[in-house]
Amino acid sequence: MQYQNTEAFAREQDQQDPLARFRERFLFPIVADDSREGMRTAIYLCGNSLGLQPKATRNYLERELQKWGQYAVDGHFHAEEPWFTYHKLLREPLARLVGALPQEVVAMNNLTSNLHLMMVSFYRPAGQRYKILMEGGAFPSDQYAVESQVRFHGYTPQDAIIEVNPRAGEHTLRTEDILAAIDEHKESLALVLFSGIQYYTGQVFDMQAISSAAHKAGAFAGFDLAHAIGNVPMQLHEWEADFAVWCSYKYLNSGPGSTAGAFVHERHINNTDIPRFAGWWGHNEEERFKMEKGFKPIAGADGWMLSNSNILPLAAQRASLDMFEEAGIEQLRQKSMQLTGYLEWMLCNSIGCDKWGIEIITPSQPEARGCQLSLFVHKGGKAVFDKIDSAGVIGDWREPNVIRVAPAPLYNSFMDVYVFCRIFERALQEVVG
Ligand SMILES: Cc1ncc(COP(=O)(O)O)c(C=O)c1O
Repeated sequence: MQYQNTEAFAREQDQQDPLARFRERFLFPIVADDSREGMRTAIYLCGNSLGLQPKATRNYLERELQKWGQYAVDGHFHAEEPWFTYHKLLREPLARLVGALPQEVVAMNNLTSNLHLMMVSFYRPAGQRYKILMEGGAFPSDQYAVESQVRFHGYTPQDAIIEVNPRAGEHTLRTEDILAAIDEHKESLALVLFSGIQYYTGQVFDMQAISSAAHKAGAFAGFDLAHAIGNVPMQLHEWEADFAVWCSYKYLNSGPGSTAGAFVHERHINNTDIPRFAGWWGHNEEERFKMEKGFKPIAGADGWMLSNSNILPLAAQRASLDMFEEAGIEQLRQKSMQLTGYLEWMLCNSIGCDKWGIEIITPSQPEARGCQLSLFVHKGGKAVFDKIDSAGVIGDWREPNVIRVAPAPLYNSFMDVYVFCRIFERALQEVVG
């Protein structure tokens, strides 16, 4: 696509966008715009942190509230879409997003809780094989989870955790370096744990290559898909990942703290010998209410469930999954590549990153990133961020001086990108001069 730095170009792209209709199905924050001395609809580029609220969410929630009011406890079994099996309604759309068989996915808990549950099953240190290899600078919750797991098994994080870092002077990891590190430690690895997309840099990791290298080394492969689900298409089943976990409040627009998910590969789901922490909702459905001793796990990712589902967050998630089903993740990805490509082009070719001391630390190859760009703002970073914030842009700030902006293809437009760039350029002029 030949990009242009004009409002007419941005408007024309929006007119031709086959997914443009989804934008009006979301609620956008109304924020103050100091430069206009008034209020405006936010330029919302923060779906990497919290996705917008679909207008349909309210209806989904009201339906469940109505059921609760009308049926009370009978809602579990006798209402339409009974709560007993409600989580299963999300299974197929989620499976399509991560490239899995329906029985390999389950919506449950929160991301970090699921990571712990998965590590109970897939971090099984024994003898020389007790180490976990992960990306340096992983999201802190993952670091804490991994540190506490290795300690729980009697090891020290210093010894048992191997971090792979970018080369000196580089911000992102080279796949060859990840694979070489796995090979170098092949005698001692129990688990390779990576994010699908790195939260800070926006880099997409080669999950297939990492999974295959981990298996060649005799280790399990697990992924944190917090920034990947709903952002890039995946094929977890085909890539033979052992497990994955995700949250749903970012690109899945399911609301703050909404129900997360997990994937367990088909080859493990019938294996009752895999150690796991159990709860009654993972127990064989037909026998669950016999209230008997002896845990019999469901043959499926559902066998890792602990508790009965939080119905309201699941209901909220369905409002968003409906749109993913209608739009299709492949079509969203196509738009996303163009939208983020436009953002990159505007920053580099129109605003001029070098001139303002801005380094885009996200990979420049479209297939090696999702929708997010991370801008390392070397001069006046926080002041620039505050300026765009007070002009009605919602992005986010990560220390020491990174502004993350993520045009989400389900609700962002080319005009959002265009207007953001105008505001960003003006902020740079005012702060850097
Ligand atoms: C990459 C990544 N992992 C883990 C988490 C933690 O998620 P939760 O609070 O849902 O456990 C986040 C939250 O933003 C994240 O971005």
